[in-house]
Amino acid sequence: MSDKVTLIEMGPRDGLQNEPRQLPLPLKEELVHRLAGAGLTRIEVGAFVSPRRVPQMADSGALLARLPRSPRLSYGALVPNEQGLAAALAAGVQEIGLFTACSDGFTRANLGVDVEISLARFAPLAAEARRQGVRVRGYLSTVIACPYDGVTRPKRVASLAARLLDMGCHEISLGDTIGVGTPGSVAPMLDAVLSEVPAGQVAVHFHDTYGQALANLLPALERGVRLIDSAVAGLGGCPYAPGASGNVASEEVVYLLHGLGMSTGIDLAALATTGAWVSRALGRQNGSKVGRAMTAHRHQEHAS
Ligand code: HMG
Ligand code: MG
Repeated sequence: MSDKVTLIEMGPRDGLQNEPRQLPLPLKEELVHRLAGAGLTRIEVGAFVSPRRVPQMADSGALLARLPRSPRLSYGALVPNEQGLAAALAAGVQEIGLFTACSDGFTRANLGVDVEISLARFAPLAAEARRQGVRVRGYLSTVIACPYDGVTRPKRVASLAARLLDMGCHEISLGDTIGVGTPGSVAPMLDAVLSEVPAGQVAVHFHDTYGQALANLLPALERGVRLIDSAVAGLGGCPYAPGASGNVASEEVVYLLHGLGMSTGIDLAALATTGAWVSRALGRQNGSKVGRAMTAHRHQEHAS
């Protein structure tokens, strides 16, 4: 089994979408630049959603216009509908993220429609993006539980993941949106999904509300998952998931993986510096323990 793990950096999108302070465009540009400099190759830079709903993402097109292009780098953005797809394609993204959930309650709050309608809307969007050579990522939120509808059944996650795959998504990101999972609930969910979707096309997207996100990566790694969504400095949250906290911090993920002898291609010191920098820019505490340890005491990376 491969020891190479790819991080999909969520900082500029999930990380900033719920921040009370809007990060000015030049600082967003610098954030992406620093993340790429630290070795991240897949970066979700924004979302082409309603600016009334998520004002923090309103400058996603302007950000993409400023970003340097390189064959090494892939920029992604969320797309909820046809209007968002047109804007994302015009901005020249390499990948779009179509996002729905396992529960109707969250999907209605997030997208204004239920799961079935969201899937019906996505099918032509996926086809059009692929026709234009843009990769399509499928997101499934509330894979463990929904803040409105309660516990999610693993079989439900598996069947929706299979449908997104059939729609042309090259990978499915499984979101514990409110961060309530433990390895005890994540493992059966993954077993169900992996009976339908090859491990190479599964990504995990864990929020850390209950401090379980890092632990939840272990059952995923044990099952061959090698795609991990994370956000520098543990930024993140969803405006439609009350009480949910940040994504698992990219610094924690890299420290863990290097400690396990796995490779990421990421320079942890540069990532930790980026996390400290963006936390200062946002006027918030750095949500990464690894980042805090490495920047406060100038520790080396002990794990490798
Ligand atoms: P709506 O407000 O429910 O209704 O939007 P609408 O479709 O009638 O649109 C209303 C207004 O929005 C109109 O403008 C549209 O033009 C405009 P007005 O005429 O009133 O001035 N509009 C748009 N503007 C820009 N770009 C667009 C767009 N679409 C409509 N694409 C909609 C429906 C789906 C757009 C809205 O509900 C929406 O934007 N939802 C997105 C919510 C969101 O971004 N949530 C966070 C991301 S998901 C997440 O964080 C979870 C994830 O991280 C995984 C996990 O953790 O589980 C991925
Ligand atoms: Mg999220």
